Amino acid sequence: MKRSLFFSTIFFLIPFLAACQQETKVSQAKSEPAAEAAKSPKILVSFYSWSGNTRRAAEVISKTAQAELFEIVPKEAYPKDYKECIDKAKEDIANGVKPELTSLPENIASYDIIFVGTPNWWSTIAPPVRSFLDCLKDYKGLVVPFVTHGSGGLANCEKDIRSSIPTVKVSIAGSWPGRSIEKAEASIAEWTKSVIGK
Ligand SMILES: Cc1cc2nc3c(=O)[nH]c(=O)nc-3n(C[C@H](O)[C@H](O)[C@H](O)COP(=O)(O)O)c2cc1C
Repeated sequence: MKRSLFFSTIFFLIPFLAACQQETKVSQAKSEPAAEAAKSPKILVSFYSWSGNTRRAAEVISKTAQAELFEIVPKEAYPKDYKECIDKAKEDIANGVKPELTSLPENIASYDIIFVGTPNWWSTIAPPVRSFLDCLKDYKGLVVPFVTHGSGGLANCEKDIRSSIPTVKVSIAGSWPGRSIEKAEASIAEWTKSVIGK
């Protein structure tokens, strides 16, 4: 090859190769966010709360997991008076009552993970949560229970969630004492990260 031909070939080839490399970088940069989105699961944090503790836990979970919140609300609220609420809850649980709810989340099947939060009521889940679980009977994703309690811990809550939705995959529950829920926020956030694999 003549020397002049060699130099003119190099002269055109270098900018051409540089442009190709640039294009590869741009297309990689474009595809990365899409791949990231495909990896992150769609999460819903559902909860029932009578006096605010389970709501607080739900808010920490939803913030940590960047998930939507859904409050389970019975059409007829439980009495505001503690003693009356205790008695009504005891009666409803004994009779297996499933109170009507004001609404259900749209398109349940679109979520990969659904957290379900309940206070421990008489060692089991609150009746509105029992009603809510009916809409998860054919759910194909993962249900993650969480519980706030007085001094009785998880008691039968996880077991009763499992038996309400026997064909659904249910993970090990998280539980925290309701009266010190603010102090538990860091532990709730850590637990959430471990559950969703962050
Ligand atoms: C009707 C009723 C029954 C309860 N039963 C129990 C129980 O059996 N064991 C327990 O540890 N705590 C019990 N508690 C206490 C609640 O589980 C605890 O305060 C919880 O954090 C309340 O959550 P919330 O603020 O989201 O309603 C009961 C509370 C109520 C109102």
